[in-house]
Amino acid sequence: MESPAEPCELLPWDSNFFGFPVARVRGNVLTPDIADAIECWCEERRIQCLYFLARSDDSVTVTLAEAWEFHLVDVRMTLERTVSDAPRPGMAKPVSGIRETRIDDLSEMRRIARISHTDTRFFYDDRFPREQCESLYETWIQSSFEGFAQAVFVSDVKGSVGGYVTCHRSKESDEGSIGLIAVDVPHQGKGLGRQLVAAAMEWFIAQNVRRVSVVTQGRNMAAQRLYARTGFIPRTLELYYHRWFSRGDS
Ligand SMILES: CC(C)(COP(=O)(O)OP(=O)(O)OC[C@H]1O[C@@H](n2cnc3c(N)ncnc32)[C@H](O)[C@@H]1OP(=O)(O)O)[C@@H](O)C(=O)NCCC(=O)NCCS
Repeated sequence: MESPAEPCELLPWDSNFFGFPVARVRGNVLTPDIADAIECWCEERRIQCLYFLARSDDSVTVTLAEAWEFHLVDVRMTLERTVSDAPRPGMAKPVSGIRETRIDDLSEMRRIARISHTDTRFFYDDRFPREQCESLYETWIQSSFEGFAQAVFVSDVKGSVGGYVTCHRSKESDEGSIGLIAVDVPHQGKGLGRQLVAAAMEWFIAQNVRRVSVVTQGRNMAAQRLYARTGFIPRTLELYYHRWFSRGDS
């Protein structure tokens, strides 16, 4: 049992998925004392990979992260949009090709998920085997389909899946979020991304969601521009670090 004062927490799902102990730092700042406590905690539990989501405006945190060999793997952007019934300029209306997903879409969605999310921190960090990164997003879209997301829409292009978007609604507030969005490579640049976002926004309106957020990578220009075109503005910018420990027993 971990007390609230502990500097990190073990991540059972990630540890099981990757096959070695994975943890994350609690909190978003480092001080010399916290960095020492993290070191001891990880040593005791033989942690191999530690995630740290840091504030970007604290120079002490960044300096300490670098000194303790945390590696920058992602500039994490959270964007948001207030939902209103009036479509914003540049928003495409959902077209008839967008529909809720069904079971026979699943194998195509899994295939697209495996190849699409290559700007994420897992693909960027080459200590994670590529096959496992592909499998991670395949698993993610499958669990989204199975109920992790409250709605999943696909773009139906002549009977096959051209892309997907997953939608989440908070149980506690009137906030929602877009989880995963991807358009299959042959169909990119033709407006499907915009249409998927538009379909998601229609769903959020019907769910009485007032504010929608989405997380993406600073390096993902296609996603940044898609969200800018569909009315999303920045909420936060954070730095994602991974720290790997060589234990000599792995
Ligand atoms: C991001 C993504 C969903 C966009 O889908 P898309 O169908 O190609 O996008 P659209 O054709 O609707 O274009 C919408 C806007 O996105 C931007 N955009 C799309 N592709 C782009 C690219 N390769 N480079 C730069 N901007 C791009 C453009 O600004 C475009 O609007 P504009 O043409 O009016 O300037 C798609 O590139 C994709 O699946 N990427 C891989 C998965 C991913 O990164 N998902 C998002 C983070 S989880």
